[in-house]
Amino acid sequence: MKKEAKIKPFWYSDIWLFPKLITIITTLDEQGRINAAPYSHIMQYDVMAKNPRLILGARQDSHTFTNIIATGEFVVNCVPAQHLDDMMETARFYPEGVNELEQTNLTMIPSLHVKPPSIQECPQIAECTVDEIIRLEKSSGIVIGKIKALVFDEKLIDMPREERIRAMNLPVGLGDESRMDYFHGVNYEITKHVLGEPPDAFKGGEVQLGMTWTDDALQTLMTIPPGVRKMVTEQTETFAREKGDDKVTLARFQELADEYGMSDEFFDRFRKKKAG
Ligand SMILES: Cc1cc2nc3c(=O)[nH]c(=O)nc-3n(C[C@H](O)[C@H](O)[C@H](O)COP(=O)(O)O)c2cc1C
Repeated sequence: MKKEAKIKPFWYSDIWLFPKLITIITTLDEQGRINAAPYSHIMQYDVMAKNPRLILGARQDSHTFTNIIATGEFVVNCVPAQHLDDMMETARFYPEGVNELEQTNLTMIPSLHVKPPSIQECPQIAECTVDEIIRLEKSSGIVIGKIKALVFDEKLIDMPREERIRAMNLPVGLGDESRMDYFHGVNYEITKHVLGEPPDAFKGGEVQLGMTWTDDALQTLMTIPPGVRKMVTEQTETFAREKGDDKVTLARFQELADEYGMSDEFFDRFRKKKAG
């Protein structure tokens, strides 16, 4: 039996279980004073490399939101599990102008492209500027941030994924009760699930070509994961038509891929997978 729950304030955290990223956002106020606070209402927005953006939701009267409006910059620092107590310390309601990081064991380091500092102990950091601000009526402020840089501890960048997940040790935010007790998942088990191709009977309509593709272009298209193949086909054909082509060549396909930041290296990931 299912039962409908009443939707109350803070439904997204109190009742609805929403496993989330735990971050500390660092900003500067108009006078250049540092502010830090935890934020989990954060998600990718534009996933393409051309204009990578993320979305952040914050109380409109928070220091973080006010500072982002004033300075146009913020840094998203992903907190590892061993610093959850420090993260909670930065959530306290300190008065304006207080640098919460000074109440913690966290270390400030200069960011690469923006003025607010980054946090040394955070293995994964996004330096952002503002793209757009949305003020929802009687609700959150939404910031769409442009990602200027994704910064990692150097050793993590080329680490195989499972090892990297363990090394980063990022907790999973599991919401709170009455804004007092915050729950987190740490040292979780990591499972891996393979995305298979649909059974043969369903494959027919998967990619419908609207124009001729050269053999090598078509072969490359088929190395792209099935989930995005249709979209890529349509975009590539539109691009080729705009360029006055009557067929899709590999060169044109790669030109579009480059424009979207999908380099040869990007395609290589799928090719190797296919072979292995
Ligand atoms: C784990 C965690 C996640 C949080 N996520 C958010 C969030 O996404 N949006 C928000 O407005 N407040 C969030 N908060 C609450 C703010 O951190 C808190 O209101 C803080 O005092 C705001 O500080 P500021 O005024 O310096 O920005 C979160 C708190 C915790 C502990």
